[in-house]
Amino acid sequence: MEDKFGREIDYLRISVTDRCNLRCRYCMPAEGYGNLIPHDQIMSFEDIIRLVQAAAKLGIKKIRLTGGEPLVRRSIVELIRLINEIDGIQQICITTNGQRLADMADDLKAAGLDRCNISLDTLDPKKYSEITRGGDLSKVLEGIEAAKRVGLLPIKINVVAMKGFNDDEFADLVELTRDNDIHVRFIELMPIGHQDLGGDYGFISNQDILAQFPDLIPERKTEESVANEYRLPGAKGKVGFISALSNHFCATCNKIRMTSDGKIKPCLHSNEEIDMMGVLRSGTDEEVLEALKATYGHREQHHHLNEGAAPIDRDMNKIGG
Ligand code: GTP
Ligand code: 5AD
Ligand code: SF4
Repeated sequence: MEDKFGREIDYLRISVTDRCNLRCRYCMPAEGYGNLIPHDQIMSFEDIIRLVQAAAKLGIKKIRLTGGEPLVRRSIVELIRLINEIDGIQQICITTNGQRLADMADDLKAAGLDRCNISLDTLDPKKYSEITRGGDLSKVLEGIEAAKRVGLLPIKINVVAMKGFNDDEFADLVELTRDNDIHVRFIELMPIGHQDLGGDYGFISNQDILAQFPDLIPERKTEESVANEYRLPGAKGKVGFISALSNHFCATCNKIRMTSDGKIKPCLHSNEEIDMMGVLRSGTDEEVLEALKATYGHREQHHHLNEGAAPIDRDMNKIGG
Protein backbone atom coordinates (compact mmCIF):
# COMPACT_ATOMS: atom_id res chain seq x y z
CA MET A 1 0.00 0.00 0.00
CA GLU A 2 1.14 3.55 -0.74
CA ASP A 3 1.25 6.50 1.63
CA LYS A 4 -0.23 9.87 0.64
CA PHE A 5 3.03 10.86 -1.07
CA GLY A 6 2.84 7.84 -3.36
CA ARG A 7 5.58 5.86 -1.64
CA GLU A 8 4.92 2.12 -1.60
CA ILE A 9 5.50 0.78 1.91
CA ASP A 10 6.85 -2.76 1.83
CA TYR A 11 9.38 -2.78 4.68
CA LEU A 12 8.59 -3.04 8.40
CA ARG A 13 11.29 -2.75 11.04
CA ILE A 14 10.34 -4.25 14.39
CA SER A 15 12.32 -3.52 17.53
CA VAL A 16 11.93 -6.70 19.57
CA THR A 17 13.66 -5.42 22.72
CA ASP A 18 15.13 -2.20 24.12
CA ARG A 19 17.81 -4.20 25.95
CA CYS A 20 21.34 -4.59 24.71
CA ASN A 21 24.47 -6.43 25.74
CA LEU A 22 26.65 -3.46 24.67
CA ARG A 23 26.70 0.23 25.59
CA CYS A 24 27.90 2.01 22.47
CA ARG A 25 28.94 5.54 23.31
CA TYR A 26 26.79 7.07 20.55
CA CYS A 27 23.73 5.15 21.70
CA MET A 28 23.52 4.38 25.43
CA PRO A 29 24.78 5.77 28.72
CA ALA A 30 27.49 3.72 30.47
CA GLU A 31 25.13 2.50 33.16
CA GLY A 32 22.42 1.61 30.63
CA TYR A 33 18.98 3.07 30.97
CA GLY A 34 17.21 3.03 34.32
CA ASN A 35 13.93 3.34 32.43
CA LEU A 36 13.85 0.04 30.58
CA ILE A 37 10.39 -0.82 29.33
CA PRO A 38 8.60 -3.15 31.81
CA HIS A 39 8.11 -6.68 30.58
CA ASP A 40 4.33 -6.58 30.24
CA GLN A 41 4.58 -3.50 28.02
CA ILE A 42 6.92 -5.22 25.58
CA MET A 43 5.21 -6.78 22.59
CA SER A 44 4.71 -10.50 23.06
CA PHE A 45 5.31 -12.89 20.17
CA GLU A 46 1.54 -13.07 19.78
CA ASP A 47 1.37 -9.26 19.41
CA ILE A 48 4.20 -9.28 16.88
CA ILE A 49 2.67 -12.06 14.82
CA ARG A 50 -0.70 -10.29 14.67
CA LEU A 51 1.06 -7.14 13.55
CA VAL A 52 3.03 -8.92 10.83
CA GLN A 53 -0.08 -10.72 9.57
CA ALA A 54 -1.86 -7.38 9.14
CA ALA A 55 1.25 -5.78 7.64
CA ALA A 56 1.58 -8.57 5.08
CA LYS A 57 -2.01 -7.94 4.00
CA LEU A 58 -1.08 -4.28 3.40
CA GLY A 59 1.83 -5.27 1.20
CA ILE A 60 4.76 -5.49 3.62
CA LYS A 61 7.24 -7.98 2.16
CA LYS A 62 10.36 -7.40 4.20
CA ILE A 63 10.71 -7.61 7.98
CA ARG A 64 13.81 -6.47 9.84
CA LEU A 65 14.16 -7.34 13.52
CA THR A 66 16.15 -4.80 15.51
CA GLY A 67 16.67 -3.87 19.15
CA GLY A 68 18.44 -2.86 21.34
CA GLU A 69 20.08 -6.09 20.37
CA PRO A 70 17.56 -8.51 18.83
CA LEU A 71 19.60 -11.60 19.67
CA VAL A 72 19.20 -10.98 23.42
CA ARG A 73 15.42 -11.40 23.13
CA ARG A 74 14.53 -14.83 24.51
CA SER A 75 13.39 -17.37 21.88
CA ILE A 76 14.13 -15.02 19.00
CA VAL A 77 14.76 -18.07 16.81
CA GLU A 78 11.19 -19.21 17.44
CA LEU A 79 9.87 -15.75 16.54
CA ILE A 80 11.69 -15.89 13.21
CA ARG A 81 10.21 -19.32 12.55
CA LEU A 82 6.71 -17.96 13.20
CA ILE A 83 7.21 -14.90 10.98
CA ASN A 84 8.57 -17.14 8.25
CA GLU A 85 5.23 -18.95 8.11
CA ILE A 86 3.27 -15.79 7.31
CA ASP A 87 2.08 -15.53 3.70
CA GLY A 88 3.47 -12.57 1.80
CA ILE A 89 6.64 -12.10 3.86
CA GLN A 90 9.47 -12.62 1.42
CA GLN A 91 12.48 -11.60 3.45
CA ILE A 92 13.43 -11.64 7.14
CA CYS A 93 16.54 -9.74 8.23
CA ILE A 94 18.14 -8.65 11.50
CA THR A 95 20.44 -5.84 12.49
CA THR A 96 22.76 -7.10 15.20
CA ASN A 97 25.92 -6.14 17.05
CA GLY A 98 27.18 -9.64 16.33
CA GLN A 99 28.23 -10.56 19.87
CA ARG A 100 26.01 -13.66 19.91
CA LEU A 101 25.84 -14.34 16.20
CA ALA A 102 28.44 -17.11 15.97
CA ASP A 103 26.56 -19.21 18.52
CA MET A 104 23.17 -18.64 16.92
CA ALA A 105 23.80 -18.47 13.17
CA ASP A 106 22.88 -22.10 12.39
CA ASP A 107 19.59 -21.91 14.28
CA LEU A 108 18.71 -18.52 12.83
CA LYS A 109 19.26 -19.74 9.31
CA ALA A 110 17.26 -22.91 9.93
CA ALA A 111 14.37 -20.84 11.30
CA GLY A 112 14.17 -18.82 8.07
CA LEU A 113 16.39 -15.78 8.60
CA ASP A 114 17.59 -14.54 5.21
CA ARG A 115 20.34 -12.10 6.08
CA CYS A 116 21.91 -9.88 8.69
CA ASN A 117 23.46 -6.43 9.02
CA ILE A 118 26.23 -6.26 11.58
CA SER A 119 27.38 -3.14 13.43
CA LEU A 120 31.15 -2.80 13.47
CA ASP A 121 32.84 0.59 13.73
CA THR A 122 36.49 -0.44 14.05
CA LEU A 123 38.82 -3.36 13.39
CA ASP A 124 40.97 -2.59 16.43
CA PRO A 125 40.04 -4.71 19.50
CA LYS A 126 40.90 -1.93 21.98
CA LYS A 127 38.96 0.72 20.09
CA TYR A 128 36.04 -1.69 19.70
CA SER A 129 35.96 -2.28 23.42
CA GLU A 130 36.20 1.46 24.03
CA ILE A 131 33.35 2.55 21.71
CA THR A 132 31.04 -0.31 22.77
CA ARG A 133 32.14 -0.12 26.42
CA GLY A 134 33.30 -3.69 26.79
CA GLY A 135 32.40 -5.48 23.55
CA ASP A 136 34.61 -8.26 22.23
CA LEU A 137 35.76 -7.72 18.64
CA SER A 138 36.69 -11.38 18.15
CA LYS A 139 33.06 -12.36 18.75
CA VAL A 140 31.84 -10.08 15.96
CA LEU A 141 34.47 -11.39 13.57
CA GLU A 142 33.46 -14.97 14.43
CA GLY A 143 29.85 -13.91 13.89
CA ILE A 144 30.66 -12.59 10.41
CA GLU A 145 32.38 -15.88 9.55
CA ALA A 146 29.43 -17.89 10.86
CA ALA A 147 26.98 -15.77 8.86
CA LYS A 148 29.03 -16.46 5.74
CA ARG A 149 29.22 -20.17 6.49
CA VAL A 150 25.47 -20.63 6.91
CA GLY A 151 24.61 -18.30 4.01
CA LEU A 152 23.06 -15.24 5.67
CA LEU A 153 23.93 -13.21 2.58
CA PRO A 154 24.72 -10.56 1.59
CA ILE A 155 26.38 -9.53 4.84
CA LYS A 156 26.31 -5.79 5.43
CA ILE A 157 28.68 -4.19 7.92
CA ASN A 158 27.40 -0.91 9.42
CA VAL A 159 30.16 1.55 10.31
CA VAL A 160 29.15 4.71 12.16
CA ALA A 161 31.72 7.22 10.92
CA MET A 162 33.26 9.37 13.65
CA LYS A 163 35.98 11.95 13.22
CA GLY A 164 38.80 11.27 15.65
CA PHE A 165 37.66 7.70 16.24
CA ASN A 166 37.69 5.62 13.07
CA ASP A 167 38.66 8.07 10.31
CA ASP A 168 42.13 6.50 10.30
CA GLU A 169 40.56 3.12 9.46
CA PHE A 170 38.27 3.99 6.56
CA ALA A 171 40.81 2.66 4.04
CA ASP A 172 41.10 -0.67 5.90
CA LEU A 173 37.33 -0.97 6.09
CA VAL A 174 36.92 -0.23 2.37
CA GLU A 175 39.68 -2.75 1.67
CA LEU A 176 37.59 -5.50 3.32
CA THR A 177 35.31 -5.44 0.27
CA ARG A 178 38.08 -6.28 -2.19
CA ASP A 179 38.24 -10.02 -1.49
CA ASN A 180 35.02 -10.55 0.46
CA ASP A 181 31.49 -10.50 -0.84
CA ILE A 182 30.34 -8.11 1.87
CA HIS A 183 28.98 -4.59 1.93
CA VAL A 184 30.70 -2.06 4.12
CA ARG A 185 28.37 0.88 4.74
CA PHE A 186 29.38 4.17 6.31
CA ILE A 187 26.60 5.76 8.35
CA GLU A 188 26.62 9.42 9.25
CA LEU A 189 26.41 9.96 12.98
CA MET A 190 22.84 11.00 13.71
CA PRO A 191 21.74 13.27 16.56
CA ILE A 192 19.65 10.58 18.16
CA GLY A 193 19.84 8.59 21.35
CA HIS A 194 22.13 9.19 24.29
CA GLN A 195 25.43 10.43 22.94
CA ASP A 196 28.35 10.30 25.29
CA LEU A 197 31.21 11.02 22.96
CA GLY A 198 32.60 13.59 25.37
CA GLY A 199 33.52 15.97 22.56
CA ASP A 200 36.19 13.45 21.53
CA TYR A 201 34.58 12.24 18.33
CA GLY A 202 32.62 14.21 15.80
CA PHE A 203 30.46 14.19 12.71
CA ILE A 204 32.04 13.53 9.37
CA SER A 205 29.98 13.69 6.21
CA ASN A 206 29.88 10.86 3.74
CA GLN A 207 31.00 13.21 0.96
CA ASP A 208 34.22 13.76 2.90
CA ILE A 209 34.76 10.01 3.15
CA LEU A 210 33.90 9.35 -0.48
CA ALA A 211 36.37 12.03 -1.56
CA GLN A 212 39.14 9.92 0.00
CA PHE A 213 38.41 7.04 -2.40
CA PRO A 214 38.54 8.30 -5.98
CA ASP A 215 38.75 4.68 -7.21
CA LEU A 216 35.22 3.86 -6.10
CA ILE A 217 32.85 3.32 -9.01
CA PRO A 218 29.12 4.03 -8.50
CA GLU A 219 26.84 1.00 -8.75
CA ARG A 220 23.49 1.10 -10.45
CA LYS A 221 20.74 1.12 -7.81
CA THR A 222 19.35 -2.39 -7.72
CA GLU A 223 16.90 -2.18 -4.84
CA GLU A 224 15.19 0.40 -2.69
CA SER A 225 18.30 0.91 -0.59
CA VAL A 226 19.11 3.72 1.80
CA ALA A 227 22.76 3.44 0.84
CA ASN A 228 24.42 4.93 -2.22
CA GLU A 229 26.57 2.07 -3.38
CA TYR A 230 30.03 1.91 -4.96
CA ARG A 231 32.63 -0.73 -5.73
CA LEU A 232 36.41 -0.80 -5.95
CA PRO A 233 37.46 -1.93 -9.44
CA GLY A 234 37.22 -5.74 -9.55
CA ALA A 235 36.17 -6.01 -5.90
CA LYS A 236 33.85 -8.76 -4.70
CA GLY A 237 31.97 -6.58 -2.22
CA LYS A 238 30.45 -3.11 -2.19
CA VAL A 239 30.93 0.11 -0.27
CA GLY A 240 27.79 2.00 0.75
CA PHE A 241 27.09 5.43 2.17
CA ILE A 242 24.05 6.07 4.34
CA SER A 243 23.76 9.83 4.47
CA ALA A 244 20.74 10.38 6.65
CA LEU A 245 21.75 13.98 7.30
CA SER A 246 23.73 15.38 4.40
CA ASN A 247 21.60 13.82 1.66
CA HIS A 248 18.47 12.33 3.07
CA PHE A 249 16.60 9.60 1.23
CA CYS A 250 13.09 10.38 2.40
CA ALA A 251 11.73 10.65 -1.16
CA THR A 252 12.13 6.90 -1.64
CA CYS A 253 11.44 5.87 1.96
CA ASN A 254 9.58 2.55 1.88
CA LYS A 255 9.46 1.68 5.58
CA ILE A 256 7.64 2.02 8.85
CA ARG A 257 8.91 1.08 12.29
CA MET A 258 7.42 -0.61 15.33
CA THR A 259 8.93 0.06 18.75
CA SER A 260 9.27 -2.77 21.25
CA ASP A 261 6.43 -1.26 23.30
CA GLY A 262 4.01 -1.47 20.42
CA LYS A 263 4.09 1.97 18.84
CA ILE A 264 4.30 2.62 15.13
CA LYS A 265 6.79 5.33 14.18
CA PRO A 266 5.78 6.55 10.73
CA CYS A 267 9.10 8.41 10.44
CA LEU A 268 12.40 7.86 12.29
CA HIS A 269 13.07 11.54 12.93
CA SER A 270 9.60 12.52 14.10
CA ASN A 271 8.23 12.29 17.62
CA GLU A 272 4.91 11.06 16.33
CA GLU A 273 4.07 7.57 17.57
CA ILE A 274 0.85 5.64 17.22
CA ASP A 275 0.07 3.09 19.88
CA MET A 276 -1.03 -0.28 18.54
CA MET A 277 -0.80 -2.31 21.72
CA GLY A 278 -4.47 -1.95 22.67
CA VAL A 279 -5.78 -3.07 19.32
CA LEU A 280 -3.19 -5.85 19.02
CA ARG A 281 -4.28 -7.28 22.37
CA SER A 282 -8.03 -6.85 22.14
CA GLY A 283 -9.05 -5.87 18.61
CA THR A 284 -10.32 -8.07 15.80
CA ASP A 285 -8.09 -8.85 12.81
CA GLU A 286 -10.01 -6.26 10.83
CA GLU A 287 -9.45 -3.62 13.52
CA VAL A 288 -5.71 -4.33 13.62
CA LEU A 289 -5.58 -3.97 9.84
CA GLU A 290 -7.50 -0.68 9.87
CA ALA A 291 -5.39 0.72 12.73
CA LEU A 292 -2.16 -0.10 10.91
CA LYS A 293 -3.48 1.35 7.66
CA ALA A 294 -4.39 4.58 9.46
CA THR A 295 -0.76 5.05 10.60
CA TYR A 296 0.32 5.47 6.97
CA GLY A 297 -1.58 8.76 6.92
CA HIS A 298 0.85 10.13 9.53
CA ARG A 299 3.93 9.76 7.36
CA GLU A 300 5.86 12.93 6.67
CA GLN A 301 7.26 13.92 3.32
CA HIS A 302 10.76 14.29 4.75
CA HIS A 303 12.55 14.93 8.03
CA HIS A 304 13.51 18.41 9.19
CA LEU A 305 16.87 17.86 10.88
CA ASN A 306 18.72 19.98 8.35
CA GLU A 307 16.31 22.84 9.05
CA GLY A 308 17.23 22.89 12.72
CA ALA A 309 14.52 20.55 14.02
CA ALA A 310 15.29 19.15 17.46
CA PRO A 311 16.35 15.50 17.69
CA ILE A 312 13.57 13.17 18.73
CA ASP A 313 13.00 12.25 22.37
CA ARG A 314 13.09 8.49 22.03
CA ASP A 315 16.45 6.78 22.43
CA MET A 316 17.96 4.77 19.59
CA ASN A 317 17.83 1.50 21.54
CA LYS A 318 14.06 1.91 21.75
CA ILE A 319 13.72 2.29 17.97
CA GLY A 320 16.39 0.08 16.48
CA GLY A 321 17.69 2.46 13.85
P1 GTP B 1 18.96 -3.06 4.27
O1 GTP B 1 17.70 -3.81 4.29
O2 GTP B 1 20.12 -3.99 4.22
O3 GTP B 1 19.03 -1.97 3.27
O4 GTP B 1 19.08 -2.44 5.74
P2 GTP B 1 18.83 -1.04 6.35
O5 GTP B 1 19.90 -0.12 5.92
O6 GTP B 1 17.43 -0.66 6.13
O7 GTP B 1 18.96 -1.39 7.91
P3 GTP B 1 20.03 -1.17 9.05
O8 GTP B 1 19.35 -1.59 10.30
O9 GTP B 1 21.30 -1.86 8.74
O10 GTP B 1 20.23 0.37 9.06
C1 GTP B 1 21.44 1.01 8.76
C2 GTP B 1 21.41 2.46 9.19
O11 GTP B 1 20.55 3.18 8.35
C3 GTP B 1 20.94 2.69 10.62
O12 GTP B 1 21.78 3.64 11.22
C4 GTP B 1 19.57 3.23 10.44
O13 GTP B 1 19.22 4.07 11.48
C5 GTP B 1 19.72 3.96 9.14
N1 GTP B 1 18.44 4.03 8.51
C6 GTP B 1 17.74 2.98 7.98
N2 GTP B 1 16.58 3.42 7.49
C7 GTP B 1 16.55 4.77 7.70
C8 GTP B 1 15.59 5.81 7.42
O14 GTP B 1 14.52 5.58 6.87
N3 GTP B 1 15.91 7.06 7.80
C9 GTP B 1 17.07 7.35 8.39
N4 GTP B 1 17.32 8.61 8.70
N5 GTP B 1 18.00 6.42 8.69
C10 GTP B 1 17.74 5.14 8.35
N1 5AD C 1 23.91 7.55 14.45
C1 5AD C 1 24.08 6.73 13.39
N2 5AD C 1 23.94 5.40 13.48
C2 5AD C 1 23.63 4.90 14.67
N3 5AD C 1 23.43 3.63 15.05
C3 5AD C 1 23.12 3.62 16.37
N4 5AD C 1 23.13 4.88 16.87
C4 5AD C 1 23.45 5.69 15.81
C5 5AD C 1 23.61 7.09 15.67
N5 5AD C 1 23.45 7.93 16.68
C6 5AD C 1 23.55 2.49 14.14
C7 5AD C 1 24.13 1.24 14.75
C8 5AD C 1 23.49 0.15 13.93
C9 5AD C 1 22.32 0.80 13.24
C10 5AD C 1 21.01 0.12 13.46
O1 5AD C 1 22.26 2.10 13.74
O2 5AD C 1 25.51 1.20 14.66
O3 5AD C 1 24.36 -0.37 12.95
FE1 SF4 D 1 23.46 -1.82 21.51
FE2 SF4 D 1 23.29 -1.14 18.93
FE3 SF4 D 1 23.02 0.72 20.81
FE4 SF4 D 1 25.40 -0.40 20.40
S1 SF4 D 1 24.26 0.87 18.91
S2 SF4 D 1 24.42 -0.05 22.41
S3 SF4 D 1 24.86 -2.45 19.88
S4 SF4 D 1 21.65 -0.98 20.47
